[in-house]
Amino acid sequence: MMQSITRVALTPAVAALLCSVAGSALAATPMTQQAIVQVAYGGPEVLKSETIPVLEPAENQVLIRIYAAAMNATDWYMRKNDPYHTTVPVPVVPGGDVGGIIEKLGPGVTGFKVGDPVYAVISRSGNNGTRLNGGYSHFVVAEVNFVQHKPSGMTYAEAAGLGVASISGVRSVLVTQVKKGDRMLITGVSGGVGSAAAQAAKAKGVYVIGTASARHNDYLKGLGVDEVIDYTQGKFEDQVHDVDAVLDTVGSDTTERAMKTLKKGGRFLSVARGDTEPMCAAAGVVCIPRGQAYGQEHAVYDEVASLAASGKLKINIDKTFPLSQAAEAQTFGEQGHTEGKIVLIVDDKKANSR
Ligand SMILES: NC(=O)c1ccc[n+]([C@@H]2O[C@H](COP(=O)([O-])OP(=O)(O)OC[C@H]3O[C@@H](n4cnc5c(N)ncnc54)[C@H](OP(=O)(O)O)[C@@H]3O)[C@@H](O)[C@H]2O)c1
Repeated sequence: MMQSITRVALTPAVAALLCSVAGSALAATPMTQQAIVQVAYGGPEVLKSETIPVLEPAENQVLIRIYAAAMNATDWYMRKNDPYHTTVPVPVVPGGDVGGIIEKLGPGVTGFKVGDPVYAVISRSGNNGTRLNGGYSHFVVAEVNFVQHKPSGMTYAEAAGLGVASISGVRSVLVTQVKKGDRMLITGVSGGVGSAAAQAAKAKGVYVIGTASARHNDYLKGLGVDEVIDYTQGKFEDQVHDVDAVLDTVGSDTTERAMKTLKKGGRFLSVARGDTEPMCAAAGVVCIPRGQAYGQEHAVYDEVASLAASGKLKINIDKTFPLSQAAEAQTFGEQGHTEGKIVLIVDDKKANSR
């Protein structure tokens, strides 16, 4: 009998079964997790690795096992308590964009099952009154309305980049109402917002002119940008005239200079500055309030998902960092020269898989 048990236990089938049982045991949802917590306002040193609870999804929420999390400018605005950003009380787990799989379903959730590959935008207001719920972690609770199935052609790291920057870029193109044959200027076209906007505009048949430094030329040509103007070599406003719409993602003096490239009655939107109304009135152009680039209506999430699924919206990952190096990643991102997105790798075996 003993011999028989020993022999059976060594067969490949049983070994595989044992591995799978061990694997599922390892993969069980833990009660706690290691996450990056912003413990105060200040420099990157306020980002600490801490143990926090894994939350239970409430009604119409899901728990996501995170494989990768994309970073956004809002992460360091929040860290510095920048006046640009609404104050978020600390401690808080940063990170609004994740890619991973559904770990648990809350009551009332339809359209998803456990194990589905997804990406999601995380509400900064947190879950059940806690702000210890964000993308810089291993598990996060998301409102099911802001969860989408991952496009099968994209890695989890790329899909994480379909969050707020892509949504703002795609929404900006929608609210400027550009149509086939229009000419549009996008400043900072190589960044997270600009790259998504450029691709959404190209999908509509718009002629896209973008400003960026020359090192992004190949990338931008690959996105279909028709003309790239190097902002480090002279004034772009001397080279661009009578465009139908402008999306400014740079701010400061670039905002006013970009406005000069519009034709009379052209449409202007800056996602980087909120004080543009008086300038627009003086310039005889139509200002679209910055707030219209934000918002949570589901149609834009669906538009992003549809563009991504059809291969018309791609995410370029400029640089990745392990989750433990979130502080270094923010320092890199804050320099403002990212080509596409910066992504934190949470599970290095899964993040780059499709
Ligand atoms: N990320 C979001 O979710 C989000 C959402 C809404 C609004 N916003 C706002 O939108 C702005 C851009 O955000 P982002 O995430 O797209 O930034 P980003 O990913 O950091 O990209 C900025 C890009 O702009 C280029 N750039 C820098 N200075 C420039 C200049 N003077 N002229 C032309 N290009 C310049 C940089 O490339 P080189 O300098 O290397 O050429 C870089 O590729 C920020 O003000 C942010 O607050 C962001």
